Amino acid sequence: MQVFSLSPLFAIFHSQFVILIPLLLCSLLLLLPFLQWHHPRHKRLPPGSMGWPYIGETLKLYTENPNSFFSNRQKRYGDIFKTHILGCPCVMVSSPEAARVVLVSRAHLFKPTYPPSKEKMIGPEALFFHQGAYHSRLKKLVQASFLPSAIRGSVSKIEHIALKLIPTWNNCTIYTLQEMKRYAFDVAMISALGDQHDLEMEGIKNLYQCLEKGYNSMPLDLPGTPFRKAMKARKLLNEDLRRIIKKRREIGKHGGGLLGIFLGAEDEKHNQLSDSQIADNIIGVIFAAHDTTASVLTWILKYLHDNVNLLEAVTKEQEGIQRKLFEENRGLTWDDTRRMPLTGRVIQETLRTASILSFTFREAVEDVEFEGYFIPKGWKVLPLFRTIHHSADFFPQPEKFDPSRFEVPPRPNTYMPFGNGVHACPGSELAKLETLILLHHLTTSCRWQVVGDGDGIQYGPFPVPKQGLPIKVTPKNKK
Ligand code: HEM
Repeated sequence: MQVFSLSPLFAIFHSQFVILIPLLLCSLLLLLPFLQWHHPRHKRLPPGSMGWPYIGETLKLYTENPNSFFSNRQKRYGDIFKTHILGCPCVMVSSPEAARVVLVSRAHLFKPTYPPSKEKMIGPEALFFHQGAYHSRLKKLVQASFLPSAIRGSVSKIEHIALKLIPTWNNCTIYTLQEMKRYAFDVAMISALGDQHDLEMEGIKNLYQCLEKGYNSMPLDLPGTPFRKAMKARKLLNEDLRRIIKKRREIGKHGGGLLGIFLGAEDEKHNQLSDSQIADNIIGVIFAAHDTTASVLTWILKYLHDNVNLLEAVTKEQEGIQRKLFEENRGLTWDDTRRMPLTGRVIQETLRTASILSFTFREAVEDVEFEGYFIPKGWKVLPLFRTIHHSADFFPQPEKFDPSRFEVPPRPNTYMPFGNGVHACPGSELAKLETLILLHHLTTSCRWQVVGDGDGIQYGPFPVPKQGLPIKVTPKNKK
């Protein structure tokens, strides 16, 4: 099986780089004699190769399996090494301790970094792009909306979404990723907006699909390009959201979901969030919530399909809960979802093995002394989650899918599927909850067979099984 480990951010930088290559090659020929990597002589950069000026090691990364690209350099240079990819000098970080320094203890020195086109598309006031007081104000609000105490009341609504969707798969061949996106999108929408009219939801959903297509395309702002269409959809999305915000402000009811929390928020000087701050953050959270969760669900179906004994053990756990629900004539509750230890470990192991966010990008905001090395201001710093998750030092036989490894907690800072520190994911509990709910109903009512060879990986932009895992779903025989 070919395993690539490109993160969405990698895909982002990639799309821009493709356009730049011809331009860069021409400039390179002219500038070659004058170029060299400058840094103060007495300061020691991390070991590693910067490859060619401008192009760096990008071509190598593209012609090698990225997993070997990273692990070969890690073997040669150690856990911290420099390289130059996608037009940027970078420092790769693959020790848990050093990743913690970047993401947690000295996070103020390493800001998140995204290409400007992505910022424009999501909305420049979304929390991902900020540090400091503004970020922390928004983060508190988003976290409050996705705490276990806030989402425990959503179980029946999420269950309703799952129960509407799963029967439509019976006796059909479906593309798992596509269907999981529908599920995760609906969950993200009710979490972000609370109960909204179906018609409004439908309009927003269509605009989102258009936005998503352009998000991973080249940022060419020309008539007819996916990028131009996406920017148009973004504008309409903004108008729709502002209409909803205006209506809620006028009737004086903040309503449910994250939007309700945003509308009710005031800082110590009684300043409210502006409409554009709210719209950018609602759009951003829905974006962050659905592709990630859909990719994880797709991998889980693949792993359960490939590990029949595990599927039967998970089904047994879920049937125990199903019997209880039947006897008590009720639907799932939050407490039921806390009694699914094996299913929970399958989710944990999937998050480790698939490591759908393979790494994240930060940028040094000033010259930084780091673990005995010098990192110049402006260099990218990449904590490599996947490399840490696949290290035999922390996870013996790392390529084996083995949920039992989570019967004991992993060593601190070695397991970061949801990141770490100030920018860590605020939606981790919601992602786990919706995954448990879907798996409860799926394993107790259906079986699935992968159609085609089922091996290989594609990036959309998160790694998922090839073609988004086509499967044939059949009703499960009742015992
Ligand atoms: C299994 C599914 C998910 C995975 C694997 C995941 C992973 C991550 C990771 C690794 C980060 C940190 C990125 C960084 O440090 O640069 C992150 C940030 C974020 N995630 Fe998630 N996520 C998932 C689901 C969700 C959901 C359901 C939500 C919705 C609430 C969400 C909202 C966010 C937001 C808003 C951020 C940015 C936080 C900040 O910048 O402070 N994610 N996610």
